[in-house]
Amino acid sequence: MPSGYVDIEDPDVCVTIDRWSTPATAYMMGLSGNFRLVRKDYTRGLYRMSGLDDKALFKVPKGHRLPITALEERVPGSRTAWHCWMVDDPPHWRAMEVYAAAAKGPVLCAGLGLGLFQHALARQPAVDYVMTIEREAAVIDLVNHQLPHPLKDLRIVEGDWRGVMSADLAGIEEDWGMIFVDLWVTSNLREKYEALGDAAQMAVKLRDRWPNALIVFHGFTPLSDVKWDVSEKTWAAMRQLGEVDAIIDGVRGPMPKRRR
Ligand SMILES: C[S@@+](CC[C@H](N)C(=O)[O-])C[C@H]1O[C@@H](n2cnc3c(N)ncnc32)[C@H](O)[C@@H]1O
Repeated sequence: MPSGYVDIEDPDVCVTIDRWSTPATAYMMGLSGNFRLVRKDYTRGLYRMSGLDDKALFKVPKGHRLPITALEERVPGSRTAWHCWMVDDPPHWRAMEVYAAAAKGPVLCAGLGLGLFQHALARQPAVDYVMTIEREAAVIDLVNHQLPHPLKDLRIVEGDWRGVMSADLAGIEEDWGMIFVDLWVTSNLREKYEALGDAAQMAVKLRDRWPNALIVFHGFTPLSDVKWDVSEKTWAAMRQLGEVDAIIDGVRGPMPKRRR
């Protein structure tokens, strides 16, 4: 066995999850324009946990299925192909909970997606209200009515975050406690690093304009003011899996089966 090798099914780095639910588990599924909400199962296998809860992986055991809710967009020009924007699987939902636990005051969000972050924020007494900028009317149509509005002042604004950024964030004068940006889903290294460059430029601009706000870029932990603790052993397991940092970059299926 090579030195430093970590058994990736060691319980220190791999948590077994045999049942799963999030606020989106109760969503009505549907189609609006080119977007849809669908449910899919994660079946037996190993899946990435990206360091959340100090785990590299989670395992769905034999005989179990996790019900997962997904927001998908029709691939332009195709009738049958769909691009997944967000899922409520364990690392995505847990990340939203970790960010929300650090939030206070008014919170500005870029990207609604499944609205998981809005659910997590609604449970935080220190959060006053939440403004979310979402580009796609169809996403708002599918998700807005499934958010916990009576619990919290959640405002959803249809608009393009890039337009907001290039207008020097004019018109948004609030003293934000947190600015949360979750706009990218990448499927390969080139896209990932393009998105990282894009996010890094936004981070500079946001920190300059709101020096007191916590700035969070979901998926780009090195740019974020809120991170999760990851032990050396979990890092070692993540490195073995080819993860160079805790970038959650999109929605991936189970790990390929290992030869024993
Ligand atoms: C990954 S999802 C967000 C997931 C969300 N954090 C959650 O908790 O479910 C990204 C969302 O950003 C939206 N989006 C992408 N580019 C955008 C832009 N330039 N301006 C506003 N919204 C955008 C997408 O339509 C999608 O709804």
